[in-house]
Amino acid sequence: MKSFKIAVLAGDGIGPEITQEAVKILKLVEQRNDVTFELVPALFGACAYFETGDAFPQATKDICDKADAILKGPIGLSHEESKNIPIDKQPERGALLPMRKRYNTYANYRPVSLPKELGHFSPLKPEIIGEGIDLIMVRELVGGLYFGAKETGVNDEGLRYVKETLEYDEKQIRQILHHAFKLASKRKKVLHNIHKSNVLKSSVLWNEIVEEVSPEYPDVEVINILVDAAATLLCLKPTQFDVMVMENMFGDILSDQGGGILGSLGLMPSACLGDDKAYYEPSHGSAPDIAGKNIANPYSMIGSVAMMLENSFDMHDEAKNIWNAMQGVFADGYSTADLSKPGAGVKMIGTTEFGDKVVEKLSQMPTP
Ligand code: IPM
Ligand code: MG
Repeated sequence: MKSFKIAVLAGDGIGPEITQEAVKILKLVEQRNDVTFELVPALFGACAYFETGDAFPQATKDICDKADAILKGPIGLSHEESKNIPIDKQPERGALLPMRKRYNTYANYRPVSLPKELGHFSPLKPEIIGEGIDLIMVRELVGGLYFGAKETGVNDEGLRYVKETLEYDEKQIRQILHHAFKLASKRKKVLHNIHKSNVLKSSVLWNEIVEEVSPEYPDVEVINILVDAAATLLCLKPTQFDVMVMENMFGDILSDQGGGILGSLGLMPSACLGDDKAYYEPSHGSAPDIAGKNIANPYSMIGSVAMMLENSFDMHDEAKNIWNAMQGVFADGYSTADLSKPGAGVKMIGTTEFGDKVVEKLSQMPTP
């Protein structure tokens, strides 16, 4: 029997309630398969800061260091509440970025997927959705502006200024490109390389490395698109994309647009992969405005569990079952508030009900 230790960081806002649903799924997966999960909860984010003075406390680091994989809920506070925490200790700078750095999770997979049958969730017209949206953004996660040197001060003219550095070396670019090419080679063999080489030198180097790596994957066609044009095309013709690769900041912005074209960020799980460690998290924030109301959509968190099974535990078939179970709940006409347009005839359910229905569907599926 296989056994895995999973650090469970429920996070802030809606984090605990959607994590609870993801844990339900993990427990069911244990029952259905020859596997055990040791779930080790730990504080992470604003909740950790208020309890310990540190958004990523040493005790949590120790738990994560020993874990086979990390399941992380969204973190952060409302804009106003954030002001109660010193800037560098706020959960994003004080916990999330240090986590990404600590485990060098440089490859962030963000699937943007909506089958044709669920096209009504999307704000896009049916003729644009066609046979469905199914693409994956591969975002570089530990370089670029997020991690470059920063400086603030007052200049010679007495004006406050800020300087942030966008830095990449060729090794960082090469390693994320290998992820993207491999993925493209397993899928439709088309890789959209997203860049801004008409302005940024970082993109010029990035594109040079694309040309160097490309011959190693002769079956993959590379299509280069400027990031601003890619933003437009994501709305106008999302079905032309399959695998998209991009640097950190571009990936942050375009992946939220990905959630937008699906109809909700609640449909955006992700995998953050390093060579030795991986963690899994929804792409969205902690939505403090709807926290504790049992209305958040747990899809992104349950989807992150599916990505964990795929990428960390080699349980591909069971992962597929989880995706199918969630789609099945939608196909039965249920959805959470983020996706239910008034009058659309959908049966609106809460966070726990969605989790229960996924459990019900998954239990009915044959075990792999
Ligand atoms: C994301 C989030 C984070 C990011 C924030 C919370 C720092 O928006 O994972 O996309 O900008 O990377
Ligand atoms: Mg983001």
